[in-house]
Parts: sequence; C-alpha cells; structure tokens
Amino acid sequence: MSIVECQGVTKQYRQGTFEVPALHRVDLSIERGDFASLAGPSGSGKTTLLNMIGGLDRPSTGSIRIDGCEISRLDGDALAALRLHKIGFVFQAYNLIPVLSARENVEFVLQLIGMERHQRTRRAKEVLRDVGLEGLEERRPARLSGGQQQRVAVARALASRPAIILADEPTANLDSKTAEDLIRLMSHLNEVSGVTFLMATHDARVIARTRRHIVITDGRVVADEYRTARRLGEECAA
Ligand SMILES: Nc1ncnc2c1ncn2[C@@H]1O[C@H](COP(=O)(O)OP(=O)(O)OP(=O)(O)O)[C@@H](O)[C@H]1O
Ligand SMILES: [Mg+2]
Repeated sequence: MSIVECQGVTKQYRQGTFEVPALHRVDLSIERGDFASLAGPSGSGKTTLLNMIGGLDRPSTGSIRIDGCEISRLDGDALAALRLHKIGFVFQAYNLIPVLSARENVEFVLQLIGMERHQRTRRAKEVLRDVGLEGLEERRPARLSGGQQQRVAVARALASRPAIILADEPTANLDSKTAEDLIRLMSHLNEVSGVTFLMATHDARVIARTRRHIVITDGRVVADEYRTARRLGEECAA
C-alpha cells in the first residue's frame, strides 16, 4: 500500500470573485521509502500539493489517502491527529519555537502525541544525535546556525516516526555548503532508516540527490521518474 495516494486532486483558491486554479486533477502515489523531489516553476502548485497531502488545507475535489486513510472524510480534530502521528513537516523558515531549546522543540511534538516525559526526553536526544546535534540540545534556536536550526526541524519531524516527511524548500535559506550537508543528512536518514521524504524544491543539488523526480507545471504532474541518485560525496555539476 502506498503511503500517499492522490486521485484527481484539484485545488482552486478563491480570491474575491476569482477562482485561482492551483492543482488540476493530480494523480500521484508516494511509496514507502521514496526519496522524492517535487520540482517545478514558481507558482506551479508545489506548496499547494504538499499542504493538501499534509492535511494543512483541503482539496476542492479529489481524494487523498494517507496510509490508507481517506483524509477528506476526517473532521478538523481527526485531521490534526493524523497530521501529528503520520506527517513530519520541514519548512523553509525552520518554524522553531524561539523560547524553547532544541530538545524542548522536539519534545513539544512528542508531548502533543501523548508521549510520557522520560520517554520523550530520551527520544528527543536520540533524534538530535541522529541529525548530528549531540551536545547542542539545550541551545535555543537563536544560538544555532541556520543549518543547525534546520537540523532541529528535521529532528522534530522525525521524532514521532511519521509515515512521511514533507519538506517545502528545506534548503532555500541555507548557503550551498550547509544545504549540501542537509540533503546528505536527509539522504542518509532515508537510506539507513527508510524514512520517506517528499521535498518541494528549486535546488538542483537537492534534485540531483533524490531517487524519484516529480515535476509539476501549471498544477499538473508532467514528469515522474525514478533515477539513480548521485552518490554521497559525488560532485554535483549543478
Ligand atoms: N492562499 C492562496 N490564495 C490564492 N491563491 C493562492 C494561494 N496560495 C497559492 N495560490 C496560487 O496558487 C498557485 C500555486 O501556488 P503554490 O504556492 O502552490 O506554488 P509553488 O509551486 O509552491 O511556488 P513557489 O516555487 O514560488 O513556492 C499560484 O498561482 C499561487 O498564486
Ligand atoms: Mg512554494
């Protein structure tokens, strides 16, 4: 069974009396273990599609199943619960809580899913170590670099062992070396722990490292193929 199954997903945003078409009958399945990029020009519908899959917004028509569960039938509370348990989000702007330490940022989501205190501290330390932040657990975001903050965001997304991590332009605010390190980290998590990733991106270095390349233009999926990803450490021509 696919982790994500979109069938005939259409989205129109209402703007006053206008309808802005953003997605047009998108059929797309994401399989367990995919390491996929979602590329396409600005305004092509990447963020819209991620928001639909992540249950942050609802399609105008069509169906989306997450781990077999049809999300259009869920009410607001059930959708929020599904988001917490099944989806990890990584955004361009990190979206960390500034008054909480790295560890507390991660623990916060674990608290929301009802994990008991000792267990969540252990899990937070474990995922922070997995993203290479051992020793920095007690720092607040303002005392971490952009790349380190984005690693906290990845740790937070991983913590509840979601079915899929959705990342929207995860490297957009990072310099090229830091962006490269982040994509290596995500690729490593995918290879070693089988974490499924779908990443909206313009970044050629990210695209070059993904195994599955999905391209969307004017709200339509126009290409979708598996390729051999560049190996870790291999130079990237882009
Ligand atoms: N809240 C909104 N209200 C109205 N129109 C919107 C809204 N959000 C997005 N759109 C429109 O929907 C289309 C798709 O936008 P979307 O943000 O999904 O594109 P994108 O591929 O993520 O672009 P970018 O690469 O610039 O992030 C665009 O035409 C955009 O103007
Ligand atoms: Mg976008």
